Amino acid sequence: MRMVDLIAKKRDGHALATDEISWLIGKYAAGEIPDYQMSAWAMAVVLRGMDDRETSDLTLAMARSGDLLDLHDLAPITVDKHSTGGVGDKTTLLLAPMVAAAGLPVAKMSGRGLGFSGGTVDKLESIPGFRTDLDAEEFRRLVREVGLVVAAQSGELAPADKKLYALRDVTATVESIPLIAASVMSKKLAAGADCIVLDVKYGSGAFMHTLDDARRLARAMVAIGSLAGRRVAAALSSMQQPLGHNIGNALEVREAIGALRGGGPADLVELCLTLGALLVRLAGLRERDEDARELLGGVLARGEAWAKFRQMVAAQGGDLAYVDAPERLPGAPVQLALPAPRAGYVDAIDGMALGLAVNALGGGRSRKDDMIDPAVGLSLKAKVGDQLYLGQPLLTIHAATPADAERVAPRLLAAYRIGAAPVSPPPLVEEIVS
Ligand code: URA
Repeated sequence: MRMVDLIAKKRDGHALATDEISWLIGKYAAGEIPDYQMSAWAMAVVLRGMDDRETSDLTLAMARSGDLLDLHDLAPITVDKHSTGGVGDKTTLLLAPMVAAAGLPVAKMSGRGLGFSGGTVDKLESIPGFRTDLDAEEFRRLVREVGLVVAAQSGELAPADKKLYALRDVTATVESIPLIAASVMSKKLAAGADCIVLDVKYGSGAFMHTLDDARRLARAMVAIGSLAGRRVAAALSSMQQPLGHNIGNALEVREAIGALRGGGPADLVELCLTLGALLVRLAGLRERDEDARELLGGVLARGEAWAKFRQMVAAQGGDLAYVDAPERLPGAPVQLALPAPRAGYVDAIDGMALGLAVNALGGGRSRKDDMIDPAVGLSLKAKVGDQLYLGQPLLTIHAATPADAERVAPRLLAAYRIGAAPVSPPPLVEEIVS
């Protein structure tokens, strides 16, 4: 087989056979297909799509490119969640400890920033010392000892996705239902959890802009997971504005720590209760949604989720001094407040524009080997539905230099649509697919 022929086949809109997909993923993982050919193929998939059989073949090929963990000797049931990516999405940082503290071991493999959206691994690495590069042995040990582990992909777990994910980040090949479905589900199958909740985001701050596309993506992933014998449910959740008030790696860790200690923000907490209750029910810990929420709400209110987060940070090498005093986490030297250019009501916030601005400040990568700046980002002072007076703070830019802050300011102002009439915030979760 020749990679150039497979690129041409997909470019011309044909379906690749099972053995062709398995060959190209195997060769790419082994370093025998160069990035430039893989990028061309990924772009052909973005433009031409894949059918269900191809998507399932791609998922299995990527999952099998490394070890497939079996965690049943550690716990009868383990759980996992994954987001398809959204701006300001720090859900894992709150949800995973909540669920773990409620008694369900969480075995999670997360990603780095992707396109305009941040990634849990980058966020956690803003805690000095925090290690996400765990091998399968350590991953299993932490599931057993802590009941909570959040790791990056190692060379052992779904390594083909690790390489392709980093390539897609910088080749404008993220926005594709089959590529996202295979990327997410290959990680989930490899990491071994029995129950998986998918947070499938739609709106301007997500890779799926419409609810219909999010539903198609959710159905594809639920079908793949169910065929592989896992219990899977997906929530279609809104990214019509960023989640919470902060975007940027260290800023988001700080916000999540605030929520773990009982300090909101309300949309983040509510989303975690919804997704967490789905997991609790999938795992059979509670039957009814209200009972599952009560369990998780109690764990949060009593500080047990916070204690579990601290335990995870310590177990993965993070310095607790920074999470106990989160103001010590990396902070940007420049903070520029942007005032509202007119009075009115916030009608809409373009999450993608905000995410791209954070990347431009240094919070994301434009090339695979770029270093990111954990300190930069945005703090939103107004969200959809809020009333504004002329000159009232709209957001704060956290930047490395005054010039960086000035450079992104115009596009941030343009990302806010301010109208004359009151509006209601968009719903947080539109529907559940299971
Ligand atoms: N999350 C992933 O793991 N992969 C994607 O492609 C998108 C979101």
